[in-house]
Amino acid sequence: MAIRNLRYNDDPILRKACKEVKVIDDNIRQILDDMLETLHHTENGAAIAANQVGVLKRLVVIDYCDYLLKLVNPKIIEASGAQECIEGCLSFPNRFVKTIRPQKVTIQALDENGKEIIITGEGEMAKCFCHELEHLDGEVFLDKAIEVIELEK
Ligand code: NI
Repeated sequence: MAIRNLRYNDDPILRKACKEVKVIDDNIRQILDDMLETLHHTENGAAIAANQVGVLKRLVVIDYCDYLLKLVNPKIIEASGAQECIEGCLSFPNRFVKTIRPQKVTIQALDENGKEIIITGEGEMAKCFCHELEHLDGEVFLDKAIEVIELEK
């Protein structure tokens, strides 16, 4: 396992769409393990999408709200309700915004062994799913801001 370099702010890779993973092999499992190690090396990160470590593949790892997930080709298959959220992102340190997200989100993905998983998250987890899956499409949370939160100095 290895810690990979996080990409920040104006790095163009954060604006690129990641490609679907066709074969889940040891290389993919290695990237997922590295992403998780990189996540655990951060102060309070909840999740990382692959392009945040410079890899243009549809991979996400999450360690948040009692979930530890390695997701391959995740997609949202159902979303309902609405909630106001406060969001930050490892790639944009010290920036926080308010967003409106669905209250409940169901995703479908493959795990690191190619097995299909379907997970429903509510509240914070629904926010997390939306935020991470948008990364894979080259979108970031700032695009969804309804209000910028100024941090007290
Ligand atoms: Ni993020």
